[in-house]
Amino acid sequence: MSNKIIIAIDGTSSTGKSTLAKRLAKKLNYIYIDSGAMYRALTHYALDKKYITESVFDSQKLIKDINNINIDFQLNKDNDKYEIHLNDIPVEKHIRTLTVSNYVSRIATIGELRKHMVKVQHSLGAGKGIIMDGRDIGTVVFPNAELKFYLDASTELRAKRRFKELIDNRHDITYDEVLSNIKLRDEQDINRKNSPLKAASDSIIIKTDKLNLSELEDVMFSYITPLISNK
Ligand code: DC
Repeated sequence: MSNKIIIAIDGTSSTGKSTLAKRLAKKLNYIYIDSGAMYRALTHYALDKKYITESVFDSQKLIKDINNINIDFQLNKDNDKYEIHLNDIPVEKHIRTLTVSNYVSRIATIGELRKHMVKVQHSLGAGKGIIMDGRDIGTVVFPNAELKFYLDASTELRAKRRFKELIDNRHDITYDEVLSNIKLRDEQDINRKNSPLKAASDSIIIKTDKLNLSELEDVMFSYITPLISNK
């Protein structure tokens, strides 16, 4: 019988965290939660309500509105995937734009919003058998997770991967735009006061530059298997 655990995957942007987390969740039959998508959904909401425009960044309005914002993941029966919903509306497509990417790290610096997101993340992950990826999962959200990974890779490689993904999904974007967005987000994620991005002291740190997805998956499984097999 397999023993269900919590797996936290943190790391810099575009290191393959969510791709890996999805693959592992499928194989383990675990629930996958993309915490970055939650911050993106909040940002999309703020843009939609015009709390954020080119000249305005009114985080107070967003904080005041927080109890009117319901973020959850619902199963799309057409593709059998759990997709993020904002007040019951699917927003997956809207949260991956460069506009959202350019504001999301700033939104994620705000302590009141983070506190609320962590509460939602705790309720989504109330049972075991979950994989959550993000920036503070092993340090703040689930400090007692049985297994914590921290993924990193060079900035240029991450930008190349992200650029390809966006072009494949028909986004109109240049490599330089992607590279500068990744640098900006790293800077903000690592240096913010609230829950900065860092590896938990008990995390397994993996450099993903020289590993393809299946090699990376094998490395991760070598840590997972002993924990789930015989408790
Ligand atoms: O994983 P992602 O790139 O979609 O995340 C978008 C942004 O959200 C990222 O720049 C930092 C922020 N984030 C965070 O602060 N904490 C998390 N647990 C997840 C994401």
